[in-house]
Amino acid sequence: MHDFYYNGKELYCEGVAVKDIAAEVGTPFYLYSHKTLTDHYTKLAKAFKSVKPLICFSMKANSNLAVLKSLVKAGAGLDIVSGGELFRALKVGVDPKKIVYAGVGKTRQEIQDAIKAGILLFNVESTGELVAINEIAGKLKKKVNVSLRINPDIDASTHSYVTTGKKESKFGIDLNTAEAVFLDRARYHHIDLCGIHVHIGSQITVSEPFVKAFRKVLIFMMQLEKHGTKIKFLNFGGGLGIIYSDEKPQTADEFAEKILPLLKGSKFQVVFEPGRFICGNAGIFVTRVLYPKKTQAKNFIVVDGAMNDLIRPSLYDAHHDVLAVTKNEVLKRIKADVVGPVCESGDFLAKDRNIPDFQAGDLIALMGAGAYGFTMSSNYNSRPRVPEVMVSGSKFEIVRKRESVADLIKGETIPSFLK
Ligand code: LLP
Repeated sequence: MHDFYYNGKELYCEGVAVKDIAAEVGTPFYLYSHKTLTDHYTKLAKAFKSVKPLICFSMKANSNLAVLKSLVKAGAGLDIVSGGELFRALKVGVDPKKIVYAGVGKTRQEIQDAIKAGILLFNVESTGELVAINEIAGKLKKKVNVSLRINPDIDASTHSYVTTGKKESKFGIDLNTAEAVFLDRARYHHIDLCGIHVHIGSQITVSEPFVKAFRKVLIFMMQLEKHGTKIKFLNFGGGLGIIYSDEKPQTADEFAEKILPLLKGSKFQVVFEPGRFICGNAGIFVTRVLYPKKTQAKNFIVVDGAMNDLIRPSLYDAHHDVLAVTKNEVLKRIKADVVGPVCESGDFLAKDRNIPDFQAGDLIALMGAGAYGFTMSSNYNSRPRVPEVMVSGSKFEIVRKRESVADLIKGETIPSFLK
């Protein structure tokens, strides 16, 4: 499943002991396994190879250049949601014809830059944005491919913050409106409205919601084709769940087994936009114990990492397994919270866990932190962002260096009236 394992008492990432990396890089830091990353991409590509899918890694999950380059070299395209992500994507040399651009609100500048870069496809979620893309493409004398994002009104049975396919969510266009938009497509001279996009949410561990949504979309597509609309791209989004604790998510093969029969005889290009499935278990967050603190009510392990570094526990009550980087059998187990130095009660990395009675200086790994870990980190409490490290085999390299305090004030000025 992933390449983090114990060799005796030591936690390893591929062929490198995590404690050796900590000694060189300092703590906290993110650590990625190149092998796990590329293996997950390959698993999905293999499972669907009969339909030759375009797998666009959803780079909001992890946009480090080394991560992107690893996947692009393995054959992946990229799913972007901003001008910043376009910039990163082009930096790693991905073929623009493997870039899909999603999101509910692209600015005119972002649209223009993406058209100029020659991306494959925009996923659009409102007629306002269709009008804008049409206008900008016209000025650039281009015709661009667009998919409409459908809101299939399906409950993905996941955390409410990451459910996107219900009719109450801001995402997508309902089927009736979408049909009207397709029938009216001739008015957009500079757009080839030739795709359907659906993404119903994230960390979905069972196949049923996907099957339900894809069925709805396929029926919709057949309806459209009857009216003479040619669909070239069917983009099924991302959302495949992974194991954080005791989830039993579908494997790539099980997922393909459910989905491939729906795609029999299809002539369109199938697109996927997985993020977490590819990089979630390929990364860990490593932090060092500062002070164990026992109060009358609870035990706390105060560490040097915090909610600004890994916000998923605070934001979604997300679970990341807590492992000792070096096992110490002498330590008894206690129930404790792992907390950071940030001045908020919501600053915790783990809550009420049965974990070793860690001592000052011990290293702790928070597992499954490769997706939405570093990308959601911030400088809150003026904490410099942590480094990212990638292991391949028996080697490791820093792929983003630790920010300095000088980085914290980059771009800030004291106004002249205060000088
Ligand atoms: N496509 C679209 C249009 C998306 O909005 C997303 C994620 C993906 C693909 C990739 O989804 P994935 O395969 O990673 O589930 N920060 C949250 C997750 C937010 C997901 C946002 N959209 C978390 O930490 O759980």
